[in-house]
Amino acid sequence: MSAKTILITGASGGIGAALARRYAHAGITLLLWGRDETRLMQTAAQCRALGAECITALFDIRVLDDMEERLVAQDAATPIDLAIFNAGLGGSVAKDDICETPQRARATAEVNFVAPVIGANVMAQAMAGRGGGQIVLVGSIAESFPLPMAPTYAATKAGLAMFAEALSIRMARQKVRVTLVSPGFVDTAMSRGVPEAKPFLMTADAAAAILVRRIARGDRRIVVPWQFSVIRAAAGLLPRALVRWVLGRA
Ligand SMILES: NC(=O)c1ccc[n+]([C@@H]2O[C@H](COP(=O)([O-])OP(=O)(O)OC[C@H]3O[C@@H](n4cnc5c(N)ncnc54)[C@H](OP(=O)(O)O)[C@@H]3O)[C@@H](O)[C@H]2O)c1
Repeated sequence: MSAKTILITGASGGIGAALARRYAHAGITLLLWGRDETRLMQTAAQCRALGAECITALFDIRVLDDMEERLVAQDAATPIDLAIFNAGLGGSVAKDDICETPQRARATAEVNFVAPVIGANVMAQAMAGRGGGQIVLVGSIAESFPLPMAPTYAATKAGLAMFAEALSIRMARQKVRVTLVSPGFVDTAMSRGVPEAKPFLMTADAAAAILVRRIARGDRRIVVPWQFSVIRAAAGLLPRALVRWVLGRA
C-alpha cells in the first residue's frame, strides 16, 4: 500500500526519527510524536526540508487517556494510513541492584506495551471502518529471550509480539495489516545505554531503509539486522535449560 498519512511515535530520536526522514517526501503528511521539543522539532524541520508536511505533538504517552483522545482526534482530522508505534523505553537493571524498581517496571510496561496496545486498537477500529490500513508495532528481538538484565523490557516486548500476531489474524478480514518489527542492536540513545556487547550493530538510518521497504511490502514480521533471526532460530533449537544457563552468566 502507498501511505499518504503516517503516524510515528517516538519520532524525536533514534529509529523513529530515521523512519520519519525516510518517509519524508512531497505529498506525505507525517504526524510526529515525542516528548523532547528540541529533538522533535529538529526531526520535523529535516522532514519538511525533504518536502513532507509535518504535524508534531509533544506529550507523554504514559498519560494513556490523553494519548487515546489525541489519537482519535488526530485520525478524525487526518485519517492515518500507516500508524507506527515505535516509542519505547529501554534500560538494563544496574548490576548492583537486586531488581528493577516498581516505578521503572511500571514505566517500561506502560510505554512499551500498554500505550502501543491501546493505540493499535484505536487504529484497528478506525482503519477497519474505512476498509484498510497498516499498523506497525516496534518490538525487540528481546521478545524471544528471558533477559535477566532487563526482565520487564523483555516481557513487554514478548507481550507485544503476541499481541501483534493475534491482532494481525483478527484484522486480516478487515484488510488491516499488522507488522511486528523486532530490532536487534541499532545505534541509538537507547542502545548506547546497554553496557553489554552489541553484535551486528547497525545505524538507525540503515535500519529505517530496510523497514520502509519491508513495511511497504506488507511483511508481517521484520527482524533487523537479519542476523538476529538466525540467532533466534538457533537459540530455539537449544534446550531451554542451556539458554537459561548462558543468560544467567551473561
Ligand atoms: N536501538 C536498539 O538497539 C533497539 C533494539 C530493540 C528494540 N528497539 C526498539 O525500537 C524502538 C525505538 O527505540 P530507539 O532505539 O530509537 O530508542 P531512542 O532513541 O531512545 O528513542 C525512543 C523514543 O521513544 C520516545 N519515548 C520514550 N518514552 C516516551 C514517553 N513516555 N512518551 C512519549 N514518547 C516516549 C522518545 O521520546 P523523547 O526522547 O522525546 O522522550 C524517543 O523518541 C523502541 O520501541 C525500542 O524498544 C530498539
